[in-house]
Formats: sequence, structure tokens, C-alpha cells
Amino acid sequence: MDVVEDALSGHVRSRAGFVTEAARHLMEAGGKRFRPLLVLLAAETGDHPASSEVVTAACVVELTHLASLYHDDVMDEAALRRGAESANARWDNHVAILTGDFLFSKSSELTAELGPDAVRIQAQTFTKLVEGQILETVAPGQDEDPLAHYLDVVAGKTGSLIATAARYGARFGGASREVEEALTAYGEIVGSAFQLSDDILDIASDSVDSGKTPGTDLREGVPTLPVLMAQQSTDPDDARLLELLSGDLTDDDRHAEALDLLRKHPAIDEARAYVVARAQEAKGLLEAVPQGPVREALEAFADIVATRSA
Ligand code: FPP
Ligand code: MG
Repeated sequence: MDVVEDALSGHVRSRAGFVTEAARHLMEAGGKRFRPLLVLLAAETGDHPASSEVVTAACVVELTHLASLYHDDVMDEAALRRGAESANARWDNHVAILTGDFLFSKSSELTAELGPDAVRIQAQTFTKLVEGQILETVAPGQDEDPLAHYLDVVAGKTGSLIATAARYGARFGGASREVEEALTAYGEIVGSAFQLSDDILDIASDSVDSGKTPGTDLREGVPTLPVLMAQQSTDPDDARLLELLSGDLTDDDRHAEALDLLRKHPAIDEARAYVVARAQEAKGLLEAVPQGPVREALEAFADIVATRSA
């Protein structure tokens, strides 16, 4: 991870000082480096886990992710990211969008070093990621179940890139095709679980832990797992919460009240239990990986997603 970190600092450099400053901003603010970590971990299933291509692949996924955060904060009008000012708040939307484009271009340049297959995988991944992000902005279809719509969004906007992190790691670390496919399926589920726990934290955690402003999804009118589960309630005590959830939550008082009611609602634990079950499912896909420390680490990685608090 130290090697990846050094490489990342080099990749966010531009010939223009201001572009470097804007591109470094969120990378230096922090971040869990969840995706590059999965690349390195998945590479351990192969016979050359320390190859330079593994490091390049780790940078590709982190830079793609970072690019998407610059854009996401514009869409969410977010003020905070990784405990720092978001780029749109620090500068403006134009700077944030173009810096995201710059980082995505850097990621694409690096992908080209990994060959045409990697470029195709990256392109297909990004198609899914953007489709997921767009689908989040539209209501489910007339006959579509809102929970199914949400899970489809999550698999697209987050599961796709995390699945590719696992695939790249396995492939460039020299794993067999069977292990690569198993890890890709594992990555997609772990990635979805990661986003589901992020959505729970958006309600349950405070900004000191998450480095973000709580309740952003509610304010944006994006119904996430705890909200969708609470909306299934027929308990008369939930009438006020359901009324708030079906209305406009951009009003500060209504937003605060809805957040408070949700934090105390059993739907939060129900949503957490769902994420734990997904992590279990992901671990069940690891049979192709021999028993030993690498498999144990992949199992622990899935568990952490389900129990994380930041
Ligand atoms: C986080 O969602 C957002 C994503 C996982 C994907 C965002 C993708 C885009 C905006 C498209 C990017 C396009 C280019 C060209 C770079 P969230 O708001 O639920 O998570 P958060 O709590 O971290 O904000
Ligand atoms: Mg966001």
C-alpha cells in the first residue's frame, strides 16, 4: 500500500500547479483506499502478487473512484468529504467537475499500460458505474419494486468498480481464471455491501466519524436501504416518520426530525442484518481460493464491510 500511495501522488500531478492542487485535495484529505487494498489482496491469490501491473491496477481503480467523488459531491451539493471541504465547496462546481475529468483521464492513461483487455474491462465497468449513478436520480418504474431498483443502483454505482478491483488483482497477480471469476463475483457483492453500509452510516453516523455531512441521501431524496425498510412499516407509531419521508426533506427542521426518528428506528438494525447476510454470501464464493491466510484475509475484508463504522 505504501508503494501504491507513492505512485498515486505521482499520478495526480499536472503541468499546471492549480490542477495538481485541486487533484491532490481529496487524495490527501484521507480515504480508506478500500479499492486498491482489494486489488493487492486479490493479487495474493496469484503467483506474482507484487508485480508492477498490480500496483498500476490499484492506482487505476483508486483514481477512477476519486474522480467519481469529485463529480458525486457536485451532484449531492456536498460540503464535506473525507473530513475536508469538498472540491465544489472549496472552489466551485466547474473546478470540481473538471478535476474529476482530469483524474479520470489519468486513470485511463494508466489503464492503457495494462493492455487492451484491461481497457475494455475498465470501460465496461465505468459504463455500469455511470448507469447506476444516473438510475439513482430517477424513480423506479411503475411495476418495479423500489428495493430492487435501489439494489440495482448500488450494484452499478459501487459494486461494479469493486468487482473490477478484485478482477484486476487476481488477473495481474497471476491467479487462475476460475479464481478470477470467483473473486469478481465476491467483489461485486462486497462492493454492494460496502455501499449499503455507507448508506446506513449516512443516517446513523455523525460527521466526525464519517467525514461527511449526515443525512445527505435524505436531503437529496434518495431512498436508501433503511428508508425503504422503514417505509414497509405498518406500525401506527411510524405515521409521522412515513409522512416526513414521503415529503420534501430539504427543509432543515423536517430533515432533522426525520433523521432523528430514523436513527431510533428498528429499520437501521434490519438494514445492518441485511448487509451482514450479503457479506456471508460473498464469503461463500471464496471456495476456489485455497484455505490459508489469503482466504482468511478476504473473509475478514468482507466482514469489515458489514461492521464498519466509518
Ligand atoms: C457515491 O455515492 C458515488 C458513486 C459510488 C459513484 C459516482 C459516480 C459519478 C458521479 C460519475 C462520475 C463520472 C466521471 C466522469 C468521473 P454516494 O453519494 O451514495 O456516496 P457518498 O456518501 O460517499 O457521497
Ligand atoms: Mg454523495
